[in-house]
Amino acid sequence: MLKQVLEQGREAADAALERLLPPATQHPTSIHQAMRHSVFAGGKRLRPILCMEAGRMIRAASVAGIQAGPPAGSLPAGIEKVGAALEMLHTYSLIHDDLPALDNDDLRRGRPTCHKAFGEATAILAGDALQTQAYEVLAQIDCPAEARVEIIREIAHATGTIDGMIGGQVVDLEAEHKKPDLATLEYIHRSKTAALITASVVSGGMYAGAMYTGATSADIGRLRIYGQSIGLAFQIVDDVLDLTQTSEQLGKTAGKDTAAEKATYPALFGIEESIRKADALVDQACAQLDEYGTAASTLKDLAHYLVERKK
Ligand code: IPE
Ligand code: IPE
Ligand code: MG
Ligand code: MG
Ligand code: MG
Repeated sequence: MLKQVLEQGREAADAALERLLPPATQHPTSIHQAMRHSVFAGGKRLRPILCMEAGRMIRAASVAGIQAGPPAGSLPAGIEKVGAALEMLHTYSLIHDDLPALDNDDLRRGRPTCHKAFGEATAILAGDALQTQAYEVLAQIDCPAEARVEIIREIAHATGTIDGMIGGQVVDLEAEHKKPDLATLEYIHRSKTAALITASVVSGGMYAGAMYTGATSADIGRLRIYGQSIGLAFQIVDDVLDLTQTSEQLGKTAGKDTAAEKATYPALFGIEESIRKADALVDQACAQLDEYGTAASTLKDLAHYLVERKK
């Protein structure tokens, strides 16, 4: 069941990205080739999938009443465009994360990183271009204008400097070669990774709420806590996988965090305790969704998948 959700979600996200990104033949071709090189390199598409499944759950709840949501209704129409925009922003963050000035990585999603394949200048611009393209797409999503603006604000804030992705990346770099304290480590992980994951879930809920009978602020609050918990668990697991998997398995260079003396959960707590913490966060996340009954089963399965994954 989850395998099907992951596969169909990936296909829906890929098809939307294919439609919404400029073709590789579009002038100036070098930048469009670079954007596509990084986007279509076999990412898991977790952020679009979380967005779409949060939308599906809120739609089911709003159709049938919270207590008795049907198992899995259809996706809110057009929600894959929100997912595609989230994936553009995520891929932009990866291209810049890999640059020599940041993590200096040669391998990403099983391919040479964008700057290795196209040079640093083009890679910087490809990241910038994916960011602007994401907002052009978001400006044209199908939900009512008020919700569209709210979704744009939510996602922009989550990728910004205040408790958002860029803020987290700044502190991640500043914390290299230092023994991290827990507060700094949590700030880094919640900001650089959990913020965009949270925005993915919340924007999916907002979209479905605006398209159908309305998500309450309690619905959005529950999705936000679910997103924050799985987002932190996701980065803890990313840190563990960096230590326990091969580069071939990950499609990115393993063992990089130790080499760069990054602030990670395993560095502070060891691998086993880190995994326990990730599991506890997933339990917390799932508890938030109990009131949605069977309509929440896919989001709960996804939460478990995020910590059980091997890449
Ligand atoms: C990697 O994200 C970067 C982090 C935030 C840890 P993913 O593990 O979702 O990478 P892709 O999209 O599948 O390549
Ligand atoms: C990356 O964290 C987070 C963002 C890209 C915002 P990492 O530096 O741990 O991600 P990987 O391991 O390179 O994918
Ligand atoms: Mg990094
Ligand atoms: Mg990195
Ligand atoms: Mg990592």
